[in-house]
Amino acid sequence: MSRQARDREAPIVLRFSHVAAAHTPKGKAAQYFSEEVARASGGEVRVDVFPNSMLYKDGEELEALQLGTVDIIAPSLSKLASIGLNGFAVFDLPFLFSDYDSLHEITDGPIGRKMLKQLDHAGLAGKAFWDNGFKNMSATRPLAEVKDFDQLRMRIQPSKIIDLQMRLLGARTEDIALADLRDALANRLVDGCENPPSNFLTQNLAPVQPYMTVSRHGYLGNLMLVNSEFWAQLPRHVRSLLDDCIDAATRYATSIARIENEQALEVIAGTRMTTIVELSERQRNDWKRTLAPVYQQITDPLSLALLEKVHRRS
Ligand code: LMR
Repeated sequence: MSRQARDREAPIVLRFSHVAAAHTPKGKAAQYFSEEVARASGGEVRVDVFPNSMLYKDGEELEALQLGTVDIIAPSLSKLASIGLNGFAVFDLPFLFSDYDSLHEITDGPIGRKMLKQLDHAGLAGKAFWDNGFKNMSATRPLAEVKDFDQLRMRIQPSKIIDLQMRLLGARTEDIALADLRDALANRLVDGCENPPSNFLTQNLAPVQPYMTVSRHGYLGNLMLVNSEFWAQLPRHVRSLLDDCIDAATRYATSIARIENEQALEVIAGTRMTTIVELSERQRNDWKRTLAPVYQQITDPLSLALLEKVHRRS
């Protein structure tokens, strides 16, 4: 076979790295995307998925994408400020979205589209918002009253908003990569953390977190990102095929996120290693009041427009 013919047959391979487990909304959507691409391209394009920080941990993956050593990532929105993309910090605000519908009004609407455009200057293209879910607090002691956080060491993602949120509650913070979280909890480097149930379950945190409060105080979502230079040099028909498969994977991610998290919470409760704590209305209102000052951190016009739209709805 001539070299030319061989080259024509070699598939275009895209490497998709992420930090979550394969059995999470993000992990499943990445796998679905890979299968859709294989099917739709008839083997011309292949997406190799590397879950669970196999290739890169948090932080490293953003740098790797900018350097082009990986082609697709889907970091949580909370990580984007670490490379100067501060416009996504608004998603970390506590008690902002009451449910997935109020969130989707933003991510599927003009504000979401404008937010994706902001990425262009960083050499990245934002392809889609992929849901995970609403976060619960967990720790080595029950967290119900605000004073229960006093002096606790809480693991955070690299987000100023989340850092301030924890400090307003009275806790101290440690920025730790997801891949290192379980060890950090087991070694008592930190006492607690916040996660959607699906990450809590798949990172096997139950044996090291005896209490989880169903606080649903914040949202954890992901942004599917590609390196724009890499994307631009792909043949036009491949870009269009990939875009269609991203749309399909995004619909799939949206369809599974809520149920995956509900089921994960049931499994966690069933392990009996983690006691589930419910907040009373008074306690929830105390958390909200204590955390209200964090909203003052948001000053950029697009994020303020987002806040106005969410508050008009509620
Ligand atoms: C985390 O670090 O807690 C999250 O970013 C993990 C994820 O789902 O990406």
